[in-house]
Amino acid sequence: MTVPARVGETLARATRTLADAGVEAPRHEAEILLGHLLGRSRAALWSHPEKSLPDGQHRRFLALCRRRAAGEPTAYLTGHREFWSLDLLVDPRVLIPRPETEHLVEAVLARQPKGIVRILDYGAGSGCIALALATEYPQAWIIALDMDGGALAVTGQNSSRHDLQGRVQRVQARSLDALAGENWLDVLVSNPPYIRAADLSALPATVRQHEPVQALSPGLRGLEVIDSLIQGGLRLLLDAGTLALEIDSPSAAGVRERLLTSDWADVAILPDLAGMPRVVVARRRRR
Ligand SMILES: C[S@@+](CC[C@H](N)C(=O)[O-])C[C@H]1O[C@@H](n2cnc3c(N)ncnc32)[C@H](O)[C@@H]1O
Repeated sequence: MTVPARVGETLARATRTLADAGVEAPRHEAEILLGHLLGRSRAALWSHPEKSLPDGQHRRFLALCRRRAAGEPTAYLTGHREFWSLDLLVDPRVLIPRPETEHLVEAVLARQPKGIVRILDYGAGSGCIALALATEYPQAWIIALDMDGGALAVTGQNSSRHDLQGRVQRVQARSLDALAGENWLDVLVSNPPYIRAADLSALPATVRQHEPVQALSPGLRGLEVIDSLIQGGLRLLLDAGTLALEIDSPSAAGVRERLLTSDWADVAILPDLAGMPRVVVARRRRR
């Protein structure tokens, strides 16, 4: 008869396996995977390390650890990631929401008063930005635009999950040209793909091999989507309407220059918690 595996020992072994594979925070990730499989909180795992694991669950846990050790991101293995206190579904069709993208939501909140506002989230992916803003602006109408139908399906699942589908309209398009009219938008927000194609190879393998490439890089320059938003946003935004974009350090100076030399005002670059340029904000100049 085999002795059943116990939670504490199983976690200790999994932590060693993940550490050997170079996973950062291996104990934390092992706990997330086991908690997910058992439907228990991490605190419940800590408080009952003596609990035994049925053989089937133990085997499933070892399989998940093997996939994690081989580089699959934990969020794709559990199918969940928290953003702005919202539990979001994620899968390989969407970028896994990053904590630093919450600075983008903060930047919009700091600039755009509450009220009946129209917000466009360009490159919605999981819908993390659109849904965070929908909860913060209860009277807002939000367009979640993405070129990828699979990503928009995930946006839709998350909108329904948080009962926000009535105020979040999904649009599949690959340019702002798909949106008609002028002067009707209060906020254009985007975490666009911004990595130069040549720099993709420098990304960690777990990102490079598992997250959608169209979510990471727009092409050779890295600025292709950002440029189109800086240009196209002028047509759609109301006077003094807000533009808020996530950027990386290498592109910060160039993006600032582009904004200062066209019809944008109040241009500011905001840092992330590490002090690196992370968000650029600007207002459409009054006509
Ligand atoms: C960096 S991801 C951001 C996803 C999500 N907003 C987030 O912050 O986690 C960029 C998204 O933009 C979409 N995208 C890339 N190029 C695009 C384009 N030209 N037009 C529309 N969407 C695009 C990708 O499919 C991807 O979902």
